[in-house]
Amino acid sequence: MNPQPLITTTEAVDKAFYVILGISGVMLLGVTVAMIYFVWRYNRKRYPVPLSQKDHNFWLETIWTIIPTILVMMMFWYGWEGYLSLRRIPDNAMPIHASARMWSWLFTYENGKTTNKLYVPVGQPVYVRLIAEDVLHSFYVPAFRVKRDCVPGMETYVWFVAEKAGSYDLFCAEYCGVGHADMITTVEALPAAEFAAWLNATPAEADAGKELLQKYGCLGCHSLDGSRIVGPSFKGMTGSSRTVVSNGQETTASADTDTLIRAIRQPAAEVVKGYPNAMPPYPDLSDDEIETMLAWLETLK
Ligand code: CUA
Repeated sequence: MNPQPLITTTEAVDKAFYVILGISGVMLLGVTVAMIYFVWRYNRKRYPVPLSQKDHNFWLETIWTIIPTILVMMMFWYGWEGYLSLRRIPDNAMPIHASARMWSWLFTYENGKTTNKLYVPVGQPVYVRLIAEDVLHSFYVPAFRVKRDCVPGMETYVWFVAEKAGSYDLFCAEYCGVGHADMITTVEALPAAEFAAWLNATPAEADAGKELLQKYGCLGCHSLDGSRIVGPSFKGMTGSSRTVVSNGQETTASADTDTLIRAIRQPAAEVVKGYPNAMPPYPDLSDDEIETMLAWLETLK
């Protein structure tokens, strides 16, 4: 356990924020009041000729050097303390892997379970290890005051603790392409017992296809309810007929199994008209996995 009581990331950042805001507020007020007073007191109408021509005052200059130095050092101190709290992972933190890719998040828990939303237990710190699979992304949860870039080829991290159950926004805060704005998800903070039950529940066999679509990030770009994200919705896709652009030519394609497999293996070969050619190819998917996904999509009609 920690020798000192746990300072949450929210407390650490807010303390520095309010100290700096407070000092800035007092300075703004002081400078403005002094300025208005001098404008009035030494107005040219009142004193057409300067009263004195002094250009040095040792004590005045010493004081106005020392006081701002102390204030700036105070701001630095609170900022530095806050920064250290953000970087120091509590001993009992639960590790979760977060993988950012165009354009969704994949969270992997200790037992191998994966999700697109980040589930955390209330009251226990979580240590989120961040990686990027393709380009720069940024993990940002305003409620916990954490924001950290996800950099390809490098592991970064954040930690935080949810003190109340609830749903908190999680954004990508680094422009990463056409689907950047769709990399919005949530942190779902569940009471500890509920979290443990959730973590150990095995998904129903019937949902295997959906699990794969989540795991490979498909649902970041293709909705299940007919709404448009980056690519066409999965709803009603199987068996439908679409105008596609292939080698610059428009043709009509029917979404049969072969066409759908080609759309996964070589997405650029045929692109549904009106959508960007933005999907990366997925060479690592096994035939079995594709079959499971397509069978599940079939049920979405
Ligand atoms: Cu990922 Cu913006």
